[in-house]
Amino acid sequence: MLTNWTYKKRLSIIFRRTSFLREYRDLLGNLKETQPRYLRTNKHDLYTEYVYSIPLGKVLTESLEKAIVEAFDCVCRVKGAGGRLYVRIYKYLLPDKVDYRAVTEYSKSVSSNVKYSVPIGLSIDNFIFHDFDKIPHMTVAGATRQGKTVFLKQMITYLLENYPEHIRLYLIDLKGGLEFGRYADLKQTINVASNATETRQLLEEVQRNMIHDMKYYRERGYTNVVDTPIKRRTFVIVDEAAQLAPEPYMEQNEKEELGYCQATLSEITRIGGALGYRLIFATQYPTADTLPRQIKQNADAKVSFRLTTEVASRVALDEQGAEKLATPGRAIYRTIEAVEVQAPYISDKESEERLAKFNVKEGLQHDDTSRDEVPGPDDDDPFQT
Ligand SMILES: Nc1ncnc2c1ncn2[C@@H]1O[C@H](COP(=O)(O)OP(=O)(O)O)[C@@H](O)[C@H]1O
Ligand SMILES: [Mg+2]
Repeated sequence: MLTNWTYKKRLSIIFRRTSFLREYRDLLGNLKETQPRYLRTNKHDLYTEYVYSIPLGKVLTESLEKAIVEAFDCVCRVKGAGGRLYVRIYKYLLPDKVDYRAVTEYSKSVSSNVKYSVPIGLSIDNFIFHDFDKIPHMTVAGATRQGKTVFLKQMITYLLENYPEHIRLYLIDLKGGLEFGRYADLKQTINVASNATETRQLLEEVQRNMIHDMKYYRERGYTNVVDTPIKRRTFVIVDEAAQLAPEPYMEQNEKEELGYCQATLSEITRIGGALGYRLIFATQYPTADTLPRQIKQNADAKVSFRLTTEVASRVALDEQGAEKLATPGRAIYRTIEAVEVQAPYISDKESEERLAKFNVKEGLQHDDTSRDEVPGPDDDDPFQT
């Protein structure tokens, strides 16, 4: 561990090398440059924070942040606010594994009335949760074997364990259905697709439901599900979504099928959000073809595990960083700000055990969740009688 003095000294060298300096006039009236003014050190259980005043007219740049972060062999966060520069040097590193159970313990300990929130992971400060009623859609990127599928599974498990009566799932798993097949018999799962044709059929069903719901909302003057008494939320979760990108060598009808799938997923992000539809779109290669622009623009939450290049990171997160993530399960979660987290790990066995009580083979019916709230296209409308 470096001493306090060395931290300040290193910061001072960095300020000089990156010209993050303030000006003053010496006795002879010559313009000189000197360090930003050091104000104080704040000690905290998890970190020590050095506070400086920011030289007038200077802005915090990516290169200054990068220089500071790279100068210390520990977790370090740099923030500018209200004319102050805060450099936090953390005492601990993020762990390489965070158990799903630790998250459930944590969420029991904090009383929260936030609905439809799911854990994203442990940051250096605390557990981070995502609220799907605030930000309805999410993209997930990451090179192969970095933790995308585990992440989706822990979200599914958490959603069903915590809001079992209100969640409907449409699962699209384009790696042959091997991963999501295990959730096919849960009462909350409406449909699972494992190839392009099944995905088209599944999305046609979602689209029909959306059109129906829209009419229902309009008749009642509802504009957004979050302002209505409706508790039902429909999650459309796609893993390996790059498989939906049309390729030049494909037959015309295949291209059209995939084009329809991508367009309908975009439509969910465009109009589905207000109707209680939430899209989670996971892909290995984020490019303009595999991550359609509309989906990216309408998904205000972005998660990325390690990617192979900085360019890919910029596509996935609109900033660099995902190429430097060190270990599986380590991710950057970006809404307005970006936070590094270690995502919760859950094994297939634990996920299955926790959800076994929802298995329809044990006597439950598919989709009996809040059915009466918004009748389906084929139901009698209880509100109309
Ligand atoms: N959150 C995590 N914490 C620790 N290890 C993880 C985590 N997520 C995944 N892993 C490890 O990485 C492997 C691959 O994860 P997976 O989710 O299947 O990757 P992907 O879907 O991105 O190809 C897992 O079998 C596990 O060993
Ligand atoms: Mg996977």
